[in-house]
Amino acid sequence: MRAAIRNRISRRSYLQTPIAAELQEDIRAGVDGLNRESGLAFAFAEDAGKAFTSMRKSYGMFSGVRSVIVLKGAADLPDLAEKLGYYGEQLMLDLTDMGLGTCWVGGTFDRGQFAIPNGETMLCVITVGHVAEQSTKEKLIRHALSRKRKPVSQRLRGYETAPAWVLAAMEAVRLAPSAVNRQKPVFTYDGGTVTAAVDASRAMDWIDLGIAKLHFAEAAGGRFTFGQDGRFLKE
Ligand SMILES: Cc1cc2nc3c(=O)[nH]c(=O)nc-3n(C[C@H](O)[C@H](O)[C@H](O)COP(=O)(O)O)c2cc1C
Repeated sequence: MRAAIRNRISRRSYLQTPIAAELQEDIRAGVDGLNRESGLAFAFAEDAGKAFTSMRKSYGMFSGVRSVIVLKGAADLPDLAEKLGYYGEQLMLDLTDMGLGTCWVGGTFDRGQFAIPNGETMLCVITVGHVAEQSTKEKLIRHALSRKRKPVSQRLRGYETAPAWVLAAMEAVRLAPSAVNRQKPVFTYDGGTVTAAVDASRAMDWIDLGIAKLHFAEAAGGRFTFGQDGRFLKE
C-alpha cells in the first residue's frame, strides 16, 4: 500500500514556517496537472489563513493555517462533488508525499474569505502546511472526532467471495478520510466486477465517494467511472 495512504491523518495545527517557493511551484504544477485531467478549477491559495481565524466559523479547531487548496469547479460539470473528492484526494496524497500536513475542510472555515468566479462552485478546501509532532490539542480533537474505522466486511458487499486484491484495496478504502468520519461509501464485488455507491443526502457524501474510489484505484491499480454504482476498471 502506498505509504501516504497508510500514514496520512488529518492535521489541524500548523507551524509558522512558510512553504518554500520551490515547494510552492511543485504544488502549483500538481494542481495544474489535475485541473487539465479533470476539468476542475482547483487553486492554491498561499495566504488564506483569514478563513480560519473567525472563532464563530472555525470553532477553534485549527491553528496556524496559512495555505489552502481551494477545491472548486464549473457548477455544471457532471459529477462535480465526486470528482472534487477523487482528484482532491489524489492531490492530498501527493502533498503527504511532499512531507506536508493536510486536512479536508468542508464545514469549519469562513467561505466568505474566497472570491469564487461566477459559474464556479467551491465545496471544500484542503489546508496544507508544515507540521510538527501532534500537539495535545490536536490529539484531543482527533480523539473527539473518533478515528475509528468500520471493518471491511461492513464496507464491501460480496465480502465472502472477494479475491485478495479486492480485500487489499478495501483496506486502503478503510483508511480514507471522510466527512465527520462517516465512512458511508459501500463497494460491491459481484462476479469479477467492483462497483461503488453511496447513500447520498449531501454534497459531502459524494465527495466521500470520490475519495473512497481514489483510494481503491490507487491500491488496486486502475481507475473508476464516476457516478452512483461506477465501475472499477483494472489496468
Ligand atoms: C469531505 C470532508 C470534509 C471534512 N470537513 C472537515 C471540517 O470541516 N473540519 C474538520 O476539522 N475536519 C473535517 N474533515 C476531516 C474528517 O473529520 C477526518 O477525515 C475524519 O475524522 C477521519 O480522520 P483522519 O482524516 O485523521 O483519518 C473532513 C473530511 C472530509 C473527507
